[in-house]
Amino acid sequence: MSKNKNNKPVWSTRIKKNSSSLFAKVGSSIDVDKRLYRQDIQASTIHVEMLLKKKIISLQVKNKIVWGLKKILNEITKKKFNFDKQSEDIHMSIEKRLFEIIGEDAGFIHTARSRNDQVLVDFKLWMIEATNDIIKEINSNTSSILKIAEKNIFTIMPSFTHLKNAQPISFAHYILAYVEMFERDKKRFLNNRESLMENPLGVAAIAGTSFDIDREYTTKKLKFKKPTGNSIDTVSDRDFVLDFLYSISVCSNHISRFAEEFILWNSDAFDLIKLKDKVVTGSSIMPQKKNPDTLEYLRGKTGNVYGNLFSMMTILKGLPLSYFKDLQDDKELAFKSFDQIKICLQIMREVLNNFIVNKKKMIQLAETGYTTATDLADHIVKEHKYPFRKAYLVTTKIVNLAEKKGKKLQELTMQEIKSVDKKLSEDVLKLFNLKNSVKSKKSYGGTSFENIKKMIKKYKMNV
Ligand code: ARG
Repeated sequence: MSKNKNNKPVWSTRIKKNSSSLFAKVGSSIDVDKRLYRQDIQASTIHVEMLLKKKIISLQVKNKIVWGLKKILNEITKKKFNFDKQSEDIHMSIEKRLFEIIGEDAGFIHTARSRNDQVLVDFKLWMIEATNDIIKEINSNTSSILKIAEKNIFTIMPSFTHLKNAQPISFAHYILAYVEMFERDKKRFLNNRESLMENPLGVAAIAGTSFDIDREYTTKKLKFKKPTGNSIDTVSDRDFVLDFLYSISVCSNHISRFAEEFILWNSDAFDLIKLKDKVVTGSSIMPQKKNPDTLEYLRGKTGNVYGNLFSMMTILKGLPLSYFKDLQDDKELAFKSFDQIKICLQIMREVLNNFIVNKKKMIQLAETGYTTATDLADHIVKEHKYPFRKAYLVTTKIVNLAEKKGKKLQELTMQEIKSVDKKLSEDVLKLFNLKNSVKSKKSYGGTSFENIKKMIKKYKMNV
């Protein structure tokens, strides 16, 4: 807690006994929230400018405070500031230092505000920047994916459902699925940015203030969109923290699914991709090993991020209005998740830029498992006007025959095909060609080469 001249906390005029040293230790959040020093100084500066504008403080006092705050900012950036562990948090620590620098006039800084709105304005300002930062990282990953997609429009592989070969697709189409996920992630973050844009400064402790303050002024100066509407809700609300942690969790989930898939594909069994040396690690005993630890890190860390979301949800679930100390943990959770997602996005990018596509193996695998069977069924519907279910049955019989003969569909003779349904003619043979199959999926959002080219163009406009 910040101390006065006699080295006592500011509230020691009321609370005579020293805090238990154990609680003073655990109750202090300075190690965590010192990260908010820039936002705290920024918001305090605008706050006192507003107090001057409304003639609540004098020009001389305002100038002294702004000067003192600048000096503190300078001290912090030059690493000459003592983040005193005895100060309860960054807000008290800065206020205390201001007292040391400019004397008693520092006390005017806390006119018409409380730490309850002060901490929120700092935290929201931080989160707006953090959100923008995450969006930048996501965009960089999208750019990396688009480069991979451009190079692999004609790379054919099997798609999987239930991890069984399904239908031939382009590898570009597969990897572009992650662009869609990232676009949704961005929307989630941007959506939360709307509620971050409401300025909490000026609601004071819970009831608002009797001072004739100008919340529109601080809103404009701090680049918020509007002031928050209810003082009680403002100091109790941590929905924006939940939304932030949730957005990070979903983004992390996408990264984790990507990681899991690439682990599988990089395995000796699948062998569809090969991670370059830059993103693998060795084994301490098996000299031949190249392990995909980077991807496992991404998958593993997703658990921590979920944990932070659940911690915050649990903190809030039984909390009456309004501020309680419980809420202090919000920053640690948000900082941890933010740091984690940022590094995970960067690691994912490293992986994206450091793997080789095993095109040969992809084709080979696409050729197994009768992946063009659906093309045949569709063809029978179109050419012979069979109901789909009947066409499905004919195709099943052809697949069964191929399986019995130990052949791929494209290895069947016309005679064998006709033995199932004599209406079928030569033109069915081209259906078993993988390229034709991919090319034919022209419906919007499908894997046809033409669609992919269009989608790449479209995505490029968003990054
Ligand atoms: N460090 C505190 C927090 O982050 C600041 C708010 C303190 N408010 C109070 N009424 N004790 O939650």
